[in-house]
Amino acid sequence: MERKKSENVVWHEGKIKKEDRERFLRQKGVILWLTGLSGSGKSTIAHELEYRLLNMGHLAYVLDGDNIRHGLNGDLGFSPQDREENIRRIGEVAKLFADLGIIAITAFISPYKKDRQRVRSLVKEDEFVEIYVKCSIDVLKQRDTKGMYEKALRGEIKEFTGVSAPYEEPENPELVLNTEKESVEESVNKVLEYLKNKKII
Ligand code: ADX
Repeated sequence: MERKKSENVVWHEGKIKKEDRERFLRQKGVILWLTGLSGSGKSTIAHELEYRLLNMGHLAYVLDGDNIRHGLNGDLGFSPQDREENIRRIGEVAKLFADLGIIAITAFISPYKKDRQRVRSLVKEDEFVEIYVKCSIDVLKQRDTKGMYEKALRGEIKEFTGVSAPYEEPENPELVLNTEKESVEESVNKVLEYLKNKKII
């Protein structure tokens, strides 16, 4: 997507560094990038994770697809170009949160590999944790909690991921949460374990 370039701007280095804020918060600022089909459990896991982290004394914040599309990204639809811009903006916001020392938990379908890869490339290697929230399309069509799959199958919602628009599975995600088999608690525990092992918390 072609974007207008900001010209004549110079980066200003602050006095306080990411490491200073991390010391203050006693945690690492990272992006936990949840990706998966609509209804797979991204938001549920993200919010439970945020809650559990706070109870452990850690600051996290959820950026959620449906919510962000009410505000910041309310001008974007679901064409490949709009999804790309959606993920680009969220990537930049999540990077700011991580720079603040906060654990940014994002819950977006983010169906395109190259868009997720671009976010990964914005931060240091260990600051981007890709988490595939996996659930088969057949189960999702059966569950259909928001009634959207039915509408999509009837053609009432166009370009619906998994029905009439693609979802590119992550090849090497740091974590896979299989929500067909695991409970929310099991999935959240897996993420917490990962964060401890990597000394993020
Ligand atoms: S993304 O593809 O750009 O990453 P995002 O996560 O922000 O999508 O938004 C997905 C949410 O928007 C879904 O959970 C669903 O509720 C809603 N939605 C509405 N139309 C569509 C569509 N065509 N495809 C997928 N999700 C849609």
